[in-house]
Amino acid sequence: MTVQPAFDPEWYRKAVFYEVMVRSFKDSNGDGFGDFRGLIEKLDYLQWLGIDAVWLPPFFPSPLLDGGYDVADYTGINPLYGSMSDFDEFLEGAHSRGMRVVIDLVINHTSSAHDWFQQSRSDPAGPFGDFYVWSDTNDKFDNVRIIFTDTETSNWAWDDVRQQFYWHRFFSHQPDLNFENPGVHEAVFDIARFWLAKGVDGFRLDAIPYLYVSEGNSGESEPETHAFIQALRAMIDREFPGRMLVAEANQQPREVLEYLGTVETPECNMAFNFPVMPYIFYALKSADVTGLAATLNDLPAVPDGSAWGVFLRNHDELTLEMVNDSEREQMYDWYAPEPRMKVNVGIRRRLAPLLDGRRDKLELANALLLSLPGSPFLYYGDEIGMGDNIWLDDRDASRTPMQWSAGEAGGFSQGSIDSLYLPVVSSPEYSSDVVNVESQMTNPSSILNWTRDMLSLRKSLFALQTGTYRGLTTGSSSVLAFVREPEGPGNPIVCAFNFSESPITVSIPGVAPANSVLDDVRLVNSGIEVNEDGLLEVELPPMSWHWLRVS
Ligand code: NOJ
Repeated sequence: MTVQPAFDPEWYRKAVFYEVMVRSFKDSNGDGFGDFRGLIEKLDYLQWLGIDAVWLPPFFPSPLLDGGYDVADYTGINPLYGSMSDFDEFLEGAHSRGMRVVIDLVINHTSSAHDWFQQSRSDPAGPFGDFYVWSDTNDKFDNVRIIFTDTETSNWAWDDVRQQFYWHRFFSHQPDLNFENPGVHEAVFDIARFWLAKGVDGFRLDAIPYLYVSEGNSGESEPETHAFIQALRAMIDREFPGRMLVAEANQQPREVLEYLGTVETPECNMAFNFPVMPYIFYALKSADVTGLAATLNDLPAVPDGSAWGVFLRNHDELTLEMVNDSEREQMYDWYAPEPRMKVNVGIRRRLAPLLDGRRDKLELANALLLSLPGSPFLYYGDEIGMGDNIWLDDRDASRTPMQWSAGEAGGFSQGSIDSLYLPVVSSPEYSSDVVNVESQMTNPSSILNWTRDMLSLRKSLFALQTGTYRGLTTGSSSVLAFVREPEGPGNPIVCAFNFSESPITVSIPGVAPANSVLDDVRLVNSGIEVNEDGLLEVELPPMSWHWLRVS
């Protein structure tokens, strides 16, 4: 095991995470695929940016029919990405720079290429015969919805070898594991122990609501699924204290919250905040924060020691499962004017093009992300405002090579341009000649340097890391305001965001006593006084925001 960063059991509550697919970041050997040695070369960049933890989606041997979420061997490294010793060196390199590493634990399903499935289909009486969910008919569990609506018409697929149907919640090449089988639990525990013993700091639990399925139910969040997560967490706390689990559960707030468990029976340490994310995009286009404010105000409190993971974009589509039907239609109209931009129940575009490449909107969205309760997760390339390529299949639209410098390959690879796993974005506004790390690093006013400065500023404001959240009344449907109050020492921070294209001045009650002065943390000597009536008057130019320190 590598040297771990200093022990802090709640490190994830203060961390800024950065999601990077190994394949997409940096190709060290010219074969067109990003790899661990490339990632090692770029650790200094991540440290410079101010990242605390790196999240790596699956990098295991895989047919790569679902970006690696089709795992064929849980304890190996895809040879395209390097070797186990490259991984070890990467982990060591991250830890020695004080950064932690979280990896994906994909346990709802395997690839059909996994040896367990191959054995299960050919030897039903053998040790893996019951590792998957088999049936003679394809009509069981018919309450369960289909997730990949664009590609799948049933959750059952026929297997010619075993002459039975098998259950799959995602692509038909991803058979679901059978959690009714205790052997599956043991196998999953062994995988977790393997990577924890190497020193990884935590797991993102992929597709975690779907582990158990039973007749008459929805196949989501069943009680046995929660019991399994509790057992996994208990094992980790006992054998590897200080590591963490983050739940990928695209569910309504109260249901997501269940993935955190309780203080007595904890489940995950964090859960992605799927309900809030789409309302940020709704507000950015409508200039109406009503839905966003309501969702934030209604968020249940998380159990002590746990935290939300907040995000704007990730390697998947911008999912619209959490908004209502009319909001969803509206968002498709705004954000997916071309049918190709849609996938499943969402939109396959990157942050900068979604926001029309507008710097003011990018800053507003990111400033909000860094102010929300929970720990922010950034998606690689968004810190430079990278574009997408909707002519690529499925979610590959926003998984193109990282743009390090100008030129056809964007500094991603020295190999031939035809060998790249996906082409570098080449549209006029977002090509690597226009959008790249090298030029932005030397430009003090670039979005990259802005992001870096913001991460460093946030790090100095304890209230924004672990503080409580209280929504404030602004009297304007275009202005969202709230106060974050620190758990311990530090000052409360009032955060206010104007989502409209017009300047607005709001009067906010209930922030601080009359005549007290709040400082704008971005500017020196810029106090705003709370007036005689106890109202904080904040002037907000169009698409602007303030972080104000209450002394
Ligand atoms: C969730 C992952 O984020 C997504 O990329 C993947 O396709 C599904 N799980 C299925 O594995």
